[in-house]
Amino acid sequence: MTMQRLLVTGGAGFIGANFVRYLVAQHPEVRKIIVLDKLTYAGNRANLAGLPADRVQLVVGDVCDAPLVDRLVAQVDAVVHYAAESHNDRSLVDPDPFVQTNILGTYTLLQACRKYDVRFHQISTDEVYGDLPLTGKAAFTPTSRYQPSSPYSATKASADLLVGAWVRSFGLRATISNCSNNYGPYQYVEKFIPRQITNILSGRRPKLYGTGRNVRDWIHVADHSWAVWLILTRGRIGQTYLIGAQGEHTNREVLEMILTAMGQPKGAYDQVRDRPGHDQRYAIDASKLREELGWRPQYTDFAAGLRQTIAWYRDHPEWWQAAKARVEAAYARHGQ
Ligand code: NAD
Ligand code: DAU
Repeated sequence: MTMQRLLVTGGAGFIGANFVRYLVAQHPEVRKIIVLDKLTYAGNRANLAGLPADRVQLVVGDVCDAPLVDRLVAQVDAVVHYAAESHNDRSLVDPDPFVQTNILGTYTLLQACRKYDVRFHQISTDEVYGDLPLTGKAAFTPTSRYQPSSPYSATKASADLLVGAWVRSFGLRATISNCSNNYGPYQYVEKFIPRQITNILSGRRPKLYGTGRNVRDWIHVADHSWAVWLILTRGRIGQTYLIGAQGEHTNREVLEMILTAMGQPKGAYDQVRDRPGHDQRYAIDASKLREELGWRPQYTDFAAGLRQTIAWYRDHPEWWQAAKARVEAAYARHGQ
């Protein structure tokens, strides 16, 4: 089907901006990309800097604004929905914007897509499945039970369920992808990997929550972008695809890799207050994506991907320095 005009919500955030950059570089057939982004603390015009103005248009606005969403959805072939409040720690302090944006925002988009019969893709997270035991080989699959732990993941789970209902009840042409932890350029400095890199670059000590035994399944954001494109263009309507690159590491391992890559002693970090309700382990079984759509991750060497990410933050201090002090002051108020 034609995918010449796309609406990318949250396209000025970390993963959305990487997706827009991927489209511009790899898919000339996508002639128009409208980015709808509220530019919250996590959104940044600079993430879209240098992209061709005749192909990429940023509309600053809210996915909960029904008249605006209606007007934009009417102009496109498909919507890729990244916009969200995305940080677990913030959702524990104030869940309100999570409920608004993640649930009501998704509802608003679904209604407009239904009205204009526009293809919809929901960007979601593996966190909707709760967590796995620390030990063992179990992994999430598309049939795993939804049992989210945090306000953030509960709102993403709610949004996914709305999508499923709109497919079944209204025949909406929609798909869902649930991806594991992303890393790479343009990630806001509140998140684990960029926080530790920028701590070291700014002379602060890295901060590890609790024991550091929790496991996350890391994927480079570029591999996420390609997977989303495959699902959008070749995925089966009504289906869920899990995206993950077999990148399981404990938080302590990741932190030690960062320290080593940056020439610091392995033990040069602080252990701080744990996250309440902290999920133990995530792991993705991406066989459906691999077998049905032929996806393969390009970033299979995590240490190399980390070094490249460290270099990006080292080379772009102007991108993160202004936010850094604010983020660290907020963490310090919560003993983290
Ligand atoms: P982010 O916080 O970096 O970016 C979110 C973007 O959404 C920002 O640009 C923000 O301004 C925008 N936004 C927030 N509220 C909005 C609203 N009401 N209207 C319009 N725009 C709004 O998040 P991210 O890490 O890039 O995550 C993007 C999506 O991917 C989210 O849906 C998240 O749940 C999902 N996801 C993230 C990860 C991860 O590891 N970061 C993994 C799996 C899935
Ligand atoms: O699994 C996908 C999810 O990954 C996405 O849905 C979320 O949007 C994204 O934020 C991410 O959630 P996490 O909570 O796993 O990511 P975060 O970067 O906040 O933390 C990763 C791990 O590192 C987690 O176990 C908590 C720990 N941590 C985090 C920070 C910020 C630390 O030990 N120290 C820290 O300073």
